[in-house]
Amino acid sequence: MKRERPHVVVTRKLPEAVEARMRELFEVRLNTADRPMSHADLAQAAREADVLVPTLTDRIDQTLLAAAGPRLRLIANYGAGVDHIDVATARTRGILVSNTPGVLTEDTADMTMALILAVPRRMAEGLALMQEGRWEGWSPTAITGHRIWGKRLGIVGMGRIGQAVARRARAFGLQVHYHNRRRLHAETEAGLDATYWESLDQMLARMDIVSVHCPHTPATYHLLSARRLQLMKPSAYIVNTARGEIIDENALIRMLKRGQLGGAALDVFEKEPAVNPDLVGLPNVVLLPHMGSATEEGRLEMGEKVILNIKTFADGHRPPDQVLP
Ligand code: DGY
Repeated sequence: MKRERPHVVVTRKLPEAVEARMRELFEVRLNTADRPMSHADLAQAAREADVLVPTLTDRIDQTLLAAAGPRLRLIANYGAGVDHIDVATARTRGILVSNTPGVLTEDTADMTMALILAVPRRMAEGLALMQEGRWEGWSPTAITGHRIWGKRLGIVGMGRIGQAVARRARAFGLQVHYHNRRRLHAETEAGLDATYWESLDQMLARMDIVSVHCPHTPATYHLLSARRLQLMKPSAYIVNTARGEIIDENALIRMLKRGQLGGAALDVFEKEPAVNPDLVGLPNVVLLPHMGSATEEGRLEMGEKVILNIKTFADGHRPPDQVLP
């Protein structure tokens, strides 16, 4: 696409600085409301735009793409995960898709590390004690959790974020194991001091903590199924900062209630923004509102990536972060 100022529709309120820069560069229609557009408004936007900038709260499915106008040429996602976009259908309609990889890696890994510590060390219970004014002073037996140093961490999905978690985990004395579709290059694996498991089942059965970092695709939907969760040690913890759909949430809840798992720390859920009420209030569970990548710095960098993808595309080149189906 070669146009002076592409017509860009942004579906969700973005940081001021990102919006201002977009206004300078493009003909922009911004959604000033900090909530997702209705499907009808989204379809209207897709009819009018050269470039659509959605977020993970927009469903860019076949119906939406069928409603898109002939001028829609690029979907420049504000976010790394693209499981809300039907990338294959977009491609058949000649619409490119780009995302914002890399800039959320370290922030998401930090939050994962916080969650890896949170459940074994009973941080939520401690916090509640303080906030509710119930603390009666130090006691040798109160709120004792479990040590993570020396324990085995199993990383499911060893991409950018999985590797960033592995680096942090080593510093906390965890033994790092991983399962990935493809084994890492020997040098990378050695640098991370990580042990590869070809069999996810076998890895799950041996780990003290399992942290999920693969993308959500049809192949990873319920990758951690009821059967696989049952392979885990009854004392094991599970952490998810990737996508809720990768874990069978109902099976997880059943197991947590029956004490068949040590606990869970979840930043993502199967039916966001709805959170299964059975999860709330479980003592061995920490829940966060999908905030793994939520830093001011990261959100600005995501905006810069979106802008670069659009600019490059408008100059007649492939966006640097093009996503292939
Ligand atoms: C993404 O970009 O996919 C993240 O989940 C947002 O936090």
